[in-house]
Amino acid sequence: MVPSELLVFGGSASRGLASKLAKELGAEPARAELKRFPDGECYVRLVDDVSGKVVAIVQSMALKPNEYLVEYLLMSETARDLGAEKVVGVIPYLPYARQDARFNPGEALSVKVVAGLLEKAGTELVITVDGHFHRVKNLRDLSRVESVNLTAAPLLARAAVERFGLRDPVVFGPDEESEPMAKAAAEAIGAEYSVLVKKRITATEVEVKPAREVEVRGDALIVDDIISTGGTVAEAAKVLRSLGAKRVFAACTHALLVGNAEERMAAAGVAGVIATDAVEGPRSVVSVAPLVARALKERLKLA
Ligand code: R5P
Repeated sequence: MVPSELLVFGGSASRGLASKLAKELGAEPARAELKRFPDGECYVRLVDDVSGKVVAIVQSMALKPNEYLVEYLLMSETARDLGAEKVVGVIPYLPYARQDARFNPGEALSVKVVAGLLEKAGTELVITVDGHFHRVKNLRDLSRVESVNLTAAPLLARAAVERFGLRDPVVFGPDEESEPMAKAAAEAIGAEYSVLVKKRITATEVEVKPAREVEVRGDALIVDDIISTGGTVAEAAKVLRSLGAKRVFAACTHALLVGNAEERMAAAGVAGVIATDAVEGPRSVVSVAPLVARALKERLKLA
């Protein structure tokens, strides 16, 4: 297909990323009217004609997951209803993915519910970036929606080297689940990597310990998918400093930075934090647009 057959819509969470992505793909950013009614309900109108087009909807659903999810579902279903050939969701941050098992009896299997909603709204393919695909590997396992999970770890590692001038760095994942990201980041900059062991105490408190003996002579770079309250990075930084790290930096794909996360990390000696625009915010110094554009070109066979 050619770029003129593709329309890229930005949901209200990801307008900046949508226009960067459209540019990378050589497509025009499509126009949508997105508003809220006084009671909080979402209003959606797709201004451009979607009939016969492939529609990509960019909406990273962090921080206001319920609102962004509903807005996305309205956009996807409307596009299909109005004759779009195919709908692709560019959802770098897919909410509810962490509840990917019944950890306690009676719990909702939230990721399955969300996959079902995406399918019902006519989305065929979802692209995530460092999404939480640990127990569930693909939305296809739960629905007819196919998913592709990209990683921004190499981009983040290279940006950290450039921005912070890392000296003799070792890359650390703060928990076992972050090992693939730590490995990809370390390989991108030719560094060693290791992971720490994390135990979650409460929603905001964690305990972090070294998994094994490791010597850190230079800088340490913590790489993770999400920084939310900053507790994980703060505790990991304390451990790394005790292991001899000269300076500690953190890089993540999705910087949610809830509450006093910034102060918490600074107080633990974190000298700098960078993130991608998968969640648009003050720390977004790396764009995932080229990464997503490459994946879309490949999947859609875009010339
Ligand atoms: C957890 O599994 C994630 O990979 C992150 O480590 C976590 O979400 C970070 O949360 P916080 O910043 O609140 O410690």
